[in-house]
Amino acid sequence: MKIGITICCLLAITSLTTGCYYDNEEYLYGTCDTTNVTFSKDIKPIMDANCINCHSGGAIDLTNYNGVKAKVMDSTLYKSISYSYSGANSSKNMPAAGKLDDCSINKVKAWIDEGAINN
Ligand code: HEC
Repeated sequence: MKIGITICCLLAITSLTTGCYYDNEEYLYGTCDTTNVTFSKDIKPIMDANCINCHSGGAIDLTNYNGVKAKVMDSTLYKSISYSYSGANSSKNMPAAGKLDDCSINKVKAWIDEGAINN
């Protein structure tokens, strides 16, 4: 009987701790908040964490608003992060190492849809 209780406790603890694996906004709050997305609060941190180690200067500079905006205007920014390229152009899907989480992609989309302003 004691063993039964121990196993039961272990299972409960395991399921509680593995919950941390899903420790991001989408899983924690069930939804991804794409309202009031701003460049400084949302977009810049996404670029900083995922893009600027390769794109900081030169033709594609994602370290600042003007550089990001330029890639919105030529429509390559969303195309690349939504993995819309195929065939010979597949290498343009960004980041090449693996797609961003859906919430980040949706935030970038929301920001673009609202005019990609410097807010
Ligand atoms: C490991 C380095 C690396 C990272 C990280 C990276 N890129 Fe790139 N990026 C590249 C390379 C290399 C190319 C050129 C690919 C090609 O032309 O085949 C490129 C091309 C692009 C292009 C141009 C696509 C086109 O149509 O010409 C855009 C826009 C872009 N990246 C955006 C991003 C964004 C946004 C992120 C972060 C979410 C990112 N990149 C992360 C290396 C990187």
